[in-house]
Amino acid sequence: MSTTQPLFQHHKHCDEIFADAEAACANGDWVAGATAFADFAGQLETHFKSEEEVLFPAFESATGMVSGPTEVMRGEHRQMRELLAQMKQALDERDGDGFGGTAETLLIMMQQHNMKEENILYPMCDNALGASDVGATIAQRLAGA
Ligand SMILES: [Fe+2]
Ligand SMILES: [Fe+2]
Repeated sequence: MSTTQPLFQHHKHCDEIFADAEAACANGDWVAGATAFADFAGQLETHFKSEEEVLFPAFESATGMVSGPTEVMRGEHRQMRELLAQMKQALDERDGDGFGGTAETLLIMMQQHNMKEENILYPMCDNALGASDVGATIAQRLAGA
């Protein structure tokens, strides 16, 4: 298993629970929507932290690239966290249009972000961290989420 394989798989998991939350809220099922959204937001935060606290620092210390792609990804995490906060507020206010509109923005940003990681940054990390135990540490974190 490559270093980034657990994160790669976890992108798909997050996509699935995001779709559950979006579908429930679109149907006006706010109770199920709130549960699915809380699960999604928690999983995504664990994912971001695994990258920010484990993968990115390991990559940066192995390559010396501290203000390159990892810095761009951190900035995108910040933007996605703001969208999550807006979605939470819309959900609390049972604002279906607000929730749906922000969910659409987050979905597009998340797809573009994940594509950049899967096609560019993760392969760079796998090259730089081939024989390390970083992948196992990340798998443990994601399993505990
Ligand atoms: Fe990321
Ligand atoms: Fe990721």
